[in-house]
Formats: sequence, structure tokens, C-alpha cells
Amino acid sequence: MNYKDEFLKLKKEKNAVLLAHYYQVSEIQDIADYVGDSLGLAQKAIDIESDIIVFAGVHFMAETAKILNPGKTVVLPDLNAGCSLADSCPPNEFRTFKEKHHDHIVVSYVNCTAAIKAMSDVICTSSNAVKIVESFPRDEKIIFAPDKNLGAYINKVTGRNMVLWDGTCEVHDILETEAIIDLKVENPDAKLIAHPECKPQVLEIADFIGSTTAMLNFTVKDDANKYIVATETGILHQMKKESPEKEFIIVPTDETCSCNDCPYMKMNTMQKLYLCLKNEKPDIIMDKDLMDRARKPIERMLDISRKVGLIK
Ligand code: 13P
Ligand code: SF4
Repeated sequence: MNYKDEFLKLKKEKNAVLLAHYYQVSEIQDIADYVGDSLGLAQKAIDIESDIIVFAGVHFMAETAKILNPGKTVVLPDLNAGCSLADSCPPNEFRTFKEKHHDHIVVSYVNCTAAIKAMSDVICTSSNAVKIVESFPRDEKIIFAPDKNLGAYINKVTGRNMVLWDGTCEVHDILETEAIIDLKVENPDAKLIAHPECKPQVLEIADFIGSTTAMLNFTVKDDANKYIVATETGILHQMKKESPEKEFIIVPTDETCSCNDCPYMKMNTMQKLYLCLKNEKPDIIMDKDLMDRARKPIERMLDISRKVGLIK
């Protein structure tokens, strides 16, 4: 069976929309109605009028879409497509942590479960994290969860001293400065671009730090011809499409391979995409009360982002 053709046929018949993250395999990105970063995907989900949202991404992203547009059926090709960052912050342990810092507000990175979102005052993504934190008074006591690398980066840029939850992304946290420095020596004309989930030592030597969309836009507008890319491999597809004349070198995870594929993002395949739309399963099912509590800090993030001009 040609899963791609069958999926597209079914998408039309069922009035469905396909949203995809940049870390999806190229063939899924190529047939998506919208490809974006976490912030873009969340915004897009709000406005969707079609009956079914097929979410080619990971669980917390599909969950966010459901929270923001609860009347729609949101299907995810593989329910096991989780996220190591979200997993690094179990709700019960986080509740105890929060109680220990009872005079702090909670800013959570969108890569967390709905239960963590419901315990947060505001959510942020890699696109708006600095601006969200800066929207609070300088002396506000803040817990930042779950990514300690992104949290440390925000602390550095804003001069704050947020208390950081000890979580990391297994894909970005293994990227080592040694491998990057070797690449820089071999390619002195290349600029290093990095996702803020990378270790502080990596971010220290980066020429540009930003979300997947921000990195992509940077490579389009910037005048260099070569980039060393410190993030997941999927983003290279759009970078090459946008700037076919430029060279992109993905940071290798060891000497023998460039295998920094997110194992969760890459669980989604064309076959699973077709099956989830055909069966309208697995779909995201959530408790209404949890959705309502998790929606508040996400809407607060969107309001602040609008106020500071990051989104319309
Ligand atoms: P972006 O929001 O920058 O696309 O990041 C999502 C993510 O999961 C990075 O690992
Ligand atoms: Fe989660 Fe890391 Fe995969 Fe992003 S790349 S979805 S943070 S495990």
C-alpha cells in the first residue's frame, strides 16, 4: 500500500489537518499542512476548524493541541512518542519540590506533562522563554522546570537566579563541545547554531541560539554559507530546502555517526500516520478539569507573547 497517497486521500475525506514538528522524518514534513516549532504548533492548533488534528510530533505537543482546542479529535501516530524532558519531571516529585519553594512562582517549559503545566503559573517555549521570564519583576522568585540547560541559559541572559529542576533532553544533552570544536577547526568558515536545550559549554561557543524556527530563520537570513547545527537531525530537511546552496553539518554524537535523532519523534512513520487517521486512534483523551487547569498557564504564555510582540 502507498501509505502517503492513502493518508492524503483519507485526510481530504475526513476533513483532517496534519501538523508536524521539524524533527519529524522528511516525508512527513513534506506532506504536512503546517510544520513548526512548539510555539507555532500550539498557536496553529487553536485556529483549526477541521474535525481531526493529526499531530506528527510527541505526546506533550499533541496534548497541548488538545488543551487549546478540546473540541477536536487529536490523533498521535504513536502514543509512546514521549519526551525525555517531560519524563524527567514526575508530578509527585515536582509537587514536593514546589512545596519546598512555596514562595516561588513556577515557569515551565512546554516540554512537560499536562499535570506539570497545571502546577505552573506560566508556560514558555524555546521561542519565548527569555521574554516570558523577563515579564516578571526582577525580584520575583521563580522555579524553572524541567530543562536545567534552558533554565541556566535564561538565568545567564536575564541575570536572574531561578531555581532549576534537574531535567535534560537526552538528545541535546549528549552533544559535546569536543566534537563541535573539532568541526569548527575543520570548518573555520562555519557558524555554530544551537538549540538552548544543549549544555551551557556548547551554548557558550555558539554564534546563534534559538528554537528550531529561530535557527531555521537565522540560516535563511544570515550571510554565511556553512553551519554546524547542534540540535536534532530533522531540522536539516527544512534548512536544506530553504537554502539549497548552503552547507549544513549536524553535530555528531560520537566519532562514528551523526545519530542525534530523537527516538520519540522518530517513532512516527508514514504507515502509523495513515493508521491513526484511518482508526482515529490513538487519540488524546484528557480529564476536563486537568485540561482547564493546564490551559490557564498556556494562555498566559500566549498573552505575554502577544503583549511583547512575539506573536500576533
Ligand atoms: P522547539 O520548540 O524549538 O521546536 O523545540 C522542541 C523540542 O522538543 C526541542 O527538543
Ligand atoms: Fe523531548 Fe529532546 Fe525529543 Fe525534544 S528532542 S522531544 S526535548 S526528547
